This record gives sequence, structure tokens and C-alpha cells, in this order.
Amino acid sequence: MTDTNHKIIIAIDGHSSCGKSTVAREIASKLNYIFIDTGAMYRAVTLYCLRNKLINNGLVDIPKLNTNLDKIKVYFRFNPQTSHNDIWLNGENVEEEIRLLAVSQNVSPVAAVAEVRHLLVALQQEMGKSKGIVMDGRDIGTVVFPDAELKIYMTAQPDVRAKRRYDELIAKGEHVSYDEIKANIIERDRYDENRKESPLRKAADAIVLDNSLMTPEEQLDWVLSQINKL
Ligand code: DC
Repeated sequence: MTDTNHKIIIAIDGHSSCGKSTVAREIASKLNYIFIDTGAMYRAVTLYCLRNKLINNGLVDIPKLNTNLDKIKVYFRFNPQTSHNDIWLNGENVEEEIRLLAVSQNVSPVAAVAEVRHLLVALQQEMGKSKGIVMDGRDIGTVVFPDAELKIYMTAQPDVRAKRRYDELIAKGEHVSYDEIKANIIERDRYDENRKESPLRKAADAIVLDNSLMTPEEQLDWVLSQINKL
């Protein structure tokens, strides 16, 4: 097991809605590490774009977004009520709003904009400077921290992922259909894997975790056993 004198970076990448953030949060809490959900950062920028009409019919106005980038301040703040680090956008806690389907449906083209990636990757690298961090996303093991000590590439069958996300959104009271959730997941994977800027790829030294048939407990044990092997 890693001790506090030898902190490492754990990079968790993979497909949409396969539980990366859940497992990353649990591992961070076990090791007393910081957990960073980088998807939340791309979602916050997307929320800014939606509010400021920088996305029209799914198309991002890239020149306008780029001239607005210095007005977009995205950061995490500890929430004492939940003990989580919530995402903030320009002075407002947007942790809840960024999970809405409207944001999920528009985040991929925003995350494909090179200037947005450069801005957020620089912030992420700064957050991991002292190590002791578990970061989840799409390019953590390939671009943000290519030297991370442990890289996990997570996936699960699309049907399994869609059902989990559907149950989550229904529990929050959103009116969504299973089919639109599944279509969104498949579309985001396709977009994330095929974009020009930092596409979703398994790093050569990443270990694959397919959790389609795993319980959350089995998955956590699996990750802890990988950490113990280090
Ligand atoms: O993990 P998530 O589903 O909340 O991420 C939202 C979107 O952000 C996802 O469709 C791809 C993008 N993303 C990215 O391009 N790079 C990251 N490091 C994290 C997320």
C-alpha cells in the first residue's frame, strides 16, 4: 500500500458512464488523496457556453468561445455538507446543474476544442503537482499525467452503462427515456474516441477494468489490489 511519504498519481480513464468517478472518489477517500473529476470541468465550460448562447443546434461557436475563455473560471471547492469537492463556475456552485442531460448532450463538441483542452489540462497538471491525487477523465493517463504510477482504463457494456445512468437521472427526478440515455452514451464514446484533440485511448501501460458484471464492492477490491501490487 502507498504511504503518505510516497504519494502517487492514479489516472482513471475510460468510456462515459462506467462509474469512473465513483471508484476514483472511493479510492481517494481510502488513501486520503484528492479526487478530481475532470469531466466536471468540461461540463462546467459547456454550461457556460449554453448560458451564453455559444452553442447553436449542437454547433460550438469556437472563435467566440475562444475570446471568452479568460472569463471562464472553473475550480473545485470543498462542500462541508457532502464532504465532496464541488465544481464552481464563476462564483457559483454548479455541481448539480452540470449533470443535466442538456449538458451531457452538448459537452463532447466543447471538449473537442483545442483551446478549452489546453486551459483545463494546465489546471489539472497544477492540481497534481504534489501527487496524492486520483483523477478521472479521458486523457489523464495519455496527456495530463503520462507518467502516472497507476493507470486504469475503465469500460462496461453500453446497455449496462445506460441502465445505471438512467436509474441515476430518474432518481433525481429528470424526465428522460432509457433510449435517449443509451444514444447519448454511444454518441459521446464515438465523439470522444474520434476527435482530433486528445482522443480517448487506452494508454499502453494502462490496466483494463471491465466492470459490466462486477458489483461496486468487487470493483473497489480490484482497484485496491492493483494499488497493493505497486
Ligand atoms: O466524465 P464525464 O462523462 O462527466 O465527461 C463529460 C465529457 O467531457 C465527456 O463526454 C468527454 C469529456 N472529457 C474529456 O474530453 N476529457 C476529460 N479528461 C474528461 C471529460
